Amino acid sequence: MSSCANKGRFIAFEGGEGTGKSTQSALLAKALRDRGLEVDTTREPGGTAGGEAIRELLLHPPGEGWNAEAEALLFAAARADHVARLINPVLDTGRWVVCDRFVDSSRAYQGGAGGLGDDAIVALHAFGSHGMRPDLTILLEVDEARLAERLAARDGGASDAIGGRSAAYHRKVAESFRALADADPDNFAIVDGMGDPAEVHARIMIAIAPMIETVGS
Ligand code: TYD
Repeated sequence: MSSCANKGRFIAFEGGEGTGKSTQSALLAKALRDRGLEVDTTREPGGTAGGEAIRELLLHPPGEGWNAEAEALLFAAARADHVARLINPVLDTGRWVVCDRFVDSSRAYQGGAGGLGDDAIVALHAFGSHGMRPDLTILLEVDEARLAERLAARDGGASDAIGGRSAAYHRKVAESFRALADADPDNFAIVDGMGDPAEVHARIMIAIAPMIETVGS
């Protein structure tokens, strides 16, 4: 949690592919700006020049691709650069950061679905990013049938090295996210991502209301 009163707040969106994270990040950033807050949006893997270069390596891997451990290390390396060069400096100026995915994606994809286990991912995060946690992580949940429709419309069957994994892998990702959120209700808000973007946004605004009240804007 941000301990210093004039530090910005850090909000992360999590969820599987097609759950609406990018759309909702943009809507939330706009709503916060409308309340007079200064907000930067960013994403993982990415956000910095180094992070974006690693993103390309992960989503379009050279040669035969990465093994599970190398993949987890690359995500952790991208995150370390992102936290040190962008997220922390921005928060230190008092601006808020809204991030599309953060460490819980690594816990769900590489730790849960990828089989590396949570302890390994948490240890990498402790080393790479000093264990930094968002002030709030919003988990968007959408049922599997609706997700399949959204992804067919969005990607038209084309997907990257991770998005293209099996339905069983993505089901495990969703279950892992849910287990992480259930185990840590103080740090997560689980938001129903079904319905149109305005409806989902309204649910998110309810979930973050206590955080906005604490800045007294
Ligand atoms: P993203 O661009 O957010 O994909 P989408 O818009 O389809 O949700 O993320 C890229 C991919 O990287 C996505 O398949 C999830 C995966 N990913 C991980 O496996 N581990 C991680 O730590 C992160 C941040 C992303």
